[in-house]
Amino acid sequence: MSRHSEAPRRITAPDIRARKGGEPIVCLTAYTAPMAEILDQHCDLLLVGDSLGMVVHGLPSTVGVTMDMMILHGQAVMRAAKKAMVVVDMPFGSYEASPEVAYANAARILKETGAQAVKVEAGVTVAPTVKFLVDRGIPVMSHVGLLPQAVNIDGKFKAKGRDEAERAAILAAARASDEAGAFAIVVEGVDETLAPEITAAVKAPTIGIGASAECDGQVLVVDDMLGLFGWTPKFVRRYANLKDEIDKAAAGYAADVRARRFPAAAETYSLSKARQARVAQRDKRG
Ligand code: KIV
Repeated sequence: MSRHSEAPRRITAPDIRARKGGEPIVCLTAYTAPMAEILDQHCDLLLVGDSLGMVVHGLPSTVGVTMDMMILHGQAVMRAAKKAMVVVDMPFGSYEASPEVAYANAARILKETGAQAVKVEAGVTVAPTVKFLVDRGIPVMSHVGLLPQAVNIDGKFKAKGRDEAERAAILAAARASDEAGAFAIVVEGVDETLAPEITAAVKAPTIGIGASAECDGQVLVVDDMLGLFGWTPKFVRRYANLKDEIDKAAAGYAADVRARRFPAAAETYSLSKARQARVAQRDKRG
C-alpha cells in the first residue's frame, strides 16, 4: 500500500466550494494542537483566525497580530488536524499594500504551516489581490461585512448593513471577491436580511458569523462558543461554560495544595518500599 493511501483524505477548497447550497459547512477557529485535534473530527474547516491576538494573546484588537504569530499557531493546528481544511488568516498589514506583498506573505504562510488556504478581509479594493493570489495557486477565503482589522476606522466593533450605502458596499465587496475567485466568503456581523442577499448573489459558499442562518455554513470563535470569557457577543451560542469549570478546577487544586492534600500516594513515585510506607503514613495523618 502506498504511503498516500494510508493518510485520511483532507477536505480541500474545491470540496468546500462544492457545498454551495448543500450540506451546511461547519467551521470553528482553532489556535493550538490539542484543540485542533478535538475539533478536527467535527469540522469541515478550521480557521486559524487572527482573533487569536485577542483570545490567546490578550490584545485589544487583531491589529497587533503579526505574521510570526499566525505561522506559529498555523503550524500547531496543522500538526493535529488531519481531516479538516485549515485556513490561516493573513494579519493586518500583510496583504493590503500590493498583490506582490500579499503573495510573498501568503506563500510564506502556506510553505511554513502546510495549511491549504489564507483568508483576507476584503473590501472591493482587495479583490484584485484575491485574484492575484488565486491565479498563482493560493486558495483564498474572503471576509466581508464587519471587518475586525478596520476597527480603528469605526472606533469599535460595529454590526454593518444599517443603511443602503453600507449594504451596497458589502454586497459589492462580496461580488468582487467572488468574481476574483475566492473559494468561500465569511460574512460577519451584518443585518440579518443582508446575508441571504449575499448568499444568493455569489457562487462561492457564504460562511456566517453574526450574519443569520441564511448562509451556506457557520463559523464561531471557539473560545466564545466554549464560554471561556465572561462576556460573549449577541450572535454567539454557548455550548459549554469552560470558564466556570476552569475556575472550579483551579480553586480545588489551590485548596488541596494549601491543605497538603495534593499530591497523595497515588500521585507520587514510590521508588522504595521504605518510602512507600512513609508516604502512606503521611497520607493517613492527612
Ligand atoms: O479571526 C477570526 O476568528 C475570524 C472569524 C471571526 C471569522 O476572522
